[in-house]
Amino acid sequence: MILETRNLEFSYPDGTKAIDDISIEVPKGKKVSFVGKNGSGKSTLFLLLNGTLKPKKGKVIFGGKEIEYSASGLRELRKKVGIVFQNSDDQLFAPTVYQDIAFGPLNLGYSKAEVDRVVNQMMDHFGLQPLKDKPPHHLSGGQKKRVAIAGVLAMDPDIIILDEPLSNLDPVGADEILDILNELNGLGKTIIISTHDVDLAYKWSDYVLLLSSGKLVRKGTAGHVFSNDAEVRDSSLKSPFILDIYHELEKRWLATGNAQPKDIPELVRLLHSIDLMRVEISPEIAVGECVNLGVLFGDYTKEGLYEAVNSRVLLKNDDGTAVVELKRRVLKPGAIYVYNMDAFDKAEFDKIIETYDINFIGAMGKKSKDIAEDSGIDVVCNSGVIDKSILNAITGSKCLILTSSGMVSHTEKRIREYIQNSGIRLIFSPVGKGAAETNEESKHEHLPDETALS
Ligand SMILES: Nc1ncnc2c1ncn2[C@@H]1O[C@H](COP(=O)(O)OP(=O)(O)O)[C@@H](O)[C@H]1O
Ligand SMILES: [Mg+2]
Repeated sequence: MILETRNLEFSYPDGTKAIDDISIEVPKGKKVSFVGKNGSGKSTLFLLLNGTLKPKKGKVIFGGKEIEYSASGLRELRKKVGIVFQNSDDQLFAPTVYQDIAFGPLNLGYSKAEVDRVVNQMMDHFGLQPLKDKPPHHLSGGQKKRVAIAGVLAMDPDIIILDEPLSNLDPVGADEILDILNELNGLGKTIIISTHDVDLAYKWSDYVLLLSSGKLVRKGTAGHVFSNDAEVRDSSLKSPFILDIYHELEKRWLATGNAQPKDIPELVRLLHSIDLMRVEISPEIAVGECVNLGVLFGDYTKEGLYEAVNSRVLLKNDDGTAVVELKRRVLKPGAIYVYNMDAFDKAEFDKIIETYDINFIGAMGKKSKDIAEDSGIDVVCNSGVIDKSILNAITGSKCLILTSSGMVSHTEKRIREYIQNSGIRLIFSPVGKGAAETNEESKHEHLPDETALS
């Protein structure tokens, strides 16, 4: 800990108790924010931290040593703990930018050459060379802030305290100052800011201290401090915008739970994939159960040619809808075989069932159905056989269509047409001894209609 306070108390001469029993620790090399609404005591605390104000009770400890309020003790402290006031006009008073930045190093007794070197280094670093001879009060808000920071940094402090450093700056000016603060932190400086901007504190800080009415309400990582909505609200602040959005998304199952995104890329990473759907659901299906939403194929699939759309119920709403997470599973295309029952041979038939791993048998036409029945074949479909076989095959089934001479070529033609028009590659093949005949048949021009015959 580079800077600490123990049971600090301070009241202004008019009796206002601005700091009430505050004990804090500031870790070295971190980005620290004191957050609180106006009047919560941030500025007063900062003046206590660099010895400008003397506490009524308690102590301020820098580098493990309680600070001394003697002239030399304070000079030593202010060299190590630089403060940038909220209002730059309170800080800048020299006639030129150069002289203002030179003020601190001169006070520390640097030689003229040394002062010149440091000031020029600061002006180069902060892009202030062109403004060198200008009176500070002629500068823009962002320029003044840069001069003020340069003046503090010229004394090479370990800690830089900035009271509301972004207030009254335009977005570009604010970004420039933030860049500077991040850079200084990267160079090893401990940076302390105060702000009532919760979005800034949440996004920027390693460590946050929440103040309310002169008291410390909560301290810790930004995620920890802002995870307690009630405390943040009680301190008359709101929760960070990005956390609000995240919580709303999370409630709707649109984002992964229990996280604390700091910026938009982090939030986007937490979003659920679009494999989330709102569906109507029957009441008996419970959260966590799996439901099947059918099968996709062709252009609608994502992973493969065919996908079974299974899903898990994540959330049930009162209105009879549910949010389900799709578990799309790629299916291997199935097959359709056609067997000519005119050449039926039980042994061959059984062999075909086994060889092709048939799990769906449909029969077309009276003759096929009769033979199948007599032979004890387990026909599961005997109407609309071609369509049902196609539907089963695209979901991965191996189908066998039993048919007889007149309809064999028609069946084949229908299936080939379907394959050609849909672009879906099903395995399709006539099988068995009768298959040769089938190929002959397919040359016929006038084909009987399936529905008329089945
Ligand atoms: N010079 C002062 N004299 C009397 N009261 C003051 C003075 N400066 C600040 N206060 C009071 O001290 C409290 C803390 O103020 P301050 O430290 O400025 O808070 P913040 O910086 O969080 O806005 C407030 O109630 C404020 O009115
Ligand atoms: Mg203030």
